[in-house]
Amino acid sequence: MPATVVVGTQWGDEGKGKLTDLLAKDMRLVVRYQGGHNAGHTIVVDGESFALQLIPSGVLYSHTVPVIGNGVVVDPAVLLAECDMLEQRGVDTSRLVVSGNAHLIMPYHYELDRATERALGKNALGTTKRGIGPAYADKAARIGLRVQDLLDEKIFREKLDIVVREKNAILAKVYNRLAMDFDEIADQYLNELAPRIAPMIGDTVSLIHEALEDGENVMLEGAQATFLDLDHGTYPFVTSSNPTAGGACVGTGIGPRDVSRVVGIAKAYVTRVGSGPFPTELDGELGELLVDKGHEYGTNTGRRRRPGWLDVVMLRQAARINSLSEIAITKLDVLSDFDEVKVCVGYEVDGERITRVPYHQSVLHRVTPVYETLPGWSDDLSGATTTADLPKSARDYLRCIEEHAGVPVTYVGVGPGREQFVQFHQ
Ligand code: GDP
Ligand code: IMO
Ligand code: MG
Repeated sequence: MPATVVVGTQWGDEGKGKLTDLLAKDMRLVVRYQGGHNAGHTIVVDGESFALQLIPSGVLYSHTVPVIGNGVVVDPAVLLAECDMLEQRGVDTSRLVVSGNAHLIMPYHYELDRATERALGKNALGTTKRGIGPAYADKAARIGLRVQDLLDEKIFREKLDIVVREKNAILAKVYNRLAMDFDEIADQYLNELAPRIAPMIGDTVSLIHEALEDGENVMLEGAQATFLDLDHGTYPFVTSSNPTAGGACVGTGIGPRDVSRVVGIAKAYVTRVGSGPFPTELDGELGELLVDKGHEYGTNTGRRRRPGWLDVVMLRQAARINSLSEIAITKLDVLSDFDEVKVCVGYEVDGERITRVPYHQSVLHRVTPVYETLPGWSDDLSGATTTADLPKSARDYLRCIEEHAGVPVTYVGVGPGREQFVQFHQ
């Protein structure tokens, strides 16, 4: 059975965790393919909320094998803390498999993330300060340490020695920061963390291919989103990996023909954390209302998310870049009680109307959104289970999205709970 990809279509926090959990009901493997613990994926089951950073959102089922793919950057201490948290809450994490090719986040990555953000001053990206960018930079520079290095003390020490020297020179001379201690890092990673991580390390590429060959359902769970993608996002206000569907192949070791379904997740409005352009951003009262009603604060960082109306220009672009086969709209319930709802269907810039995301970044910073205004609805949607339970205005809103994005909407989220969704058109 070819794989299914779950991908964010906006700037993150669309509800990928909830949808991954929902679809994982029928999956054997659930694989995270990029990012690290900059992600925060929430799943709510029977009123109990789980906020996951690294472990795939399929972990709550006993029939799934959660896998951390080669494209992920792993802080082993965070991974173990997450396993412990889940175990304490009765979730079995013993099936977890971590790719030996995944790269490690090291203490100097945090330090460099903070230092570069500080140095950027008012141009700071607003990163999660989890060392993500510096870890991927080392991967590209071919000086990263990988999960498999934890299995070989000699190699680990050799590599670490070279890198710590380089990082300490940069930290001291460029950023005027204190040096990192080689022995402390080596001791923590090799003696504290490696013994517990070692049994989780596996050949995830073979595992995934064997599952596909056996006709099992495999899901690839993206973190972050299309417009945080290093290549396709609003650079430099992006993350340092490829959350887009192509990244799912690279980050797991499968080819494009092994993917048959790509589910794009879009919030019924848009939020963004951190800096960067956001054409439909709402600064005033309406924005506050969205933040309040949608509880728009970071899952792990607690940062307030910037709110705005849905932008189907972006959604159309995301549909192309990811070759979306369908879209799941989340948080439609949050839009109840607005007199009218708006959808950005184009932009105006320099007296011209455009219906594409401008390829020149500085143009995107200057665009004015062109809205289509639709009537709102006041019904409480949280108990809806079928399309017929949705008021006409809500159905029209969803149809408007489908029309502009050119992709069918299949799932509609009407609350945070696992069971709070509607299969649209059914
Ligand atoms: P992710 O990073 O894409 O997995 O999304 P997050 O978990 O960071 O943020 C989404 C938030 O919205 C979480 O608090 C979810 O519990 C919540 N959520 C997901 N779907 C729905 C929905 O349909 N309605 C409501 N009200 N909340 C939802
Ligand atoms: P999930 O998977 C929302 C944002 C940060 C910052 C930029 C770069 O929960 O949707 P980084 O730490 O990655 O170098 O930060 O990316 N960012 C996210 N925003 N949801 C996320 O993950 C994010 N992961 C990173 O706020 O603007
Ligand atoms: Mg999140």
